Amino acid sequence: MATRKTSDAEPFLPEGRRTLPKLREAAAHCQGCDLYLHATQTVFGEGSTGARLVFVGEQPGDMEDRKGRPFVGPAGRVFDRALEAAGIARDTTYVTNAVKHFKFEERGKARLHKRPRAGEVKACRPWLSAELELIRPEIVVLLGATAAQAIFGPSFRITHSRGRPLESTLAKVVIATAHPSSILRAPDEEARHAAFEELVEDLRVVAKHLNEKAK
Ligand code: URA
Ligand code: SF4
Repeated sequence: MATRKTSDAEPFLPEGRRTLPKLREAAAHCQGCDLYLHATQTVFGEGSTGARLVFVGEQPGDMEDRKGRPFVGPAGRVFDRALEAAGIARDTTYVTNAVKHFKFEERGKARLHKRPRAGEVKACRPWLSAELELIRPEIVVLLGATAAQAIFGPSFRITHSRGRPLESTLAKVVIATAHPSSILRAPDEEARHAAFEELVEDLRVVAKHLNEKAK
């Protein structure tokens, strides 16, 4: 029997007609890479099948891992504030991550976020593809380098390409922007404010596309 050299999420995808609840249930048992070993649970995407806009983050953080929901920790609060400033209602969108398990390093009692490797992002990709195939959104927003590089490859740079529609088969409009947690890492209040405003500016471009299409 041939042995599989690399593993991914593919064998864990549900058979038959897919729905988001079926995907979520199947993803809860995924062992497509080693990240399930230490995380609390799979954090699947959240939102409706009818969403016109999908956000893709990197991976769940400490709080998301505990709660089982995407963007509910500190980065989630930045995300919520930015959405509000741009006039986008989160509950009309679908929010997910490129990687569905929390990767971390233990430092005393703290669990520090560790960036997923390209192989882990690739292993998890079947879930994101399945979500996007079901939802077929008009707009996909990639939050941060991990999500953007998952789609456009390792040479993609957010700083060069943020806030404008990119060529992609994922959706009619694909836009990359900064990750909300990069705002929390800004060195001082002034830099934080500027980075937040830039994120909001990019999300306003997204809102404009949404509103144009709705007319
Ligand atoms: N950062 C992410 O990329 N996703 C989350 O769900 C939370 C923090
Ligand atoms: Fe499966 Fe993705 Fe979790 Fe890896 S990170 S075990 S591929 S759900």
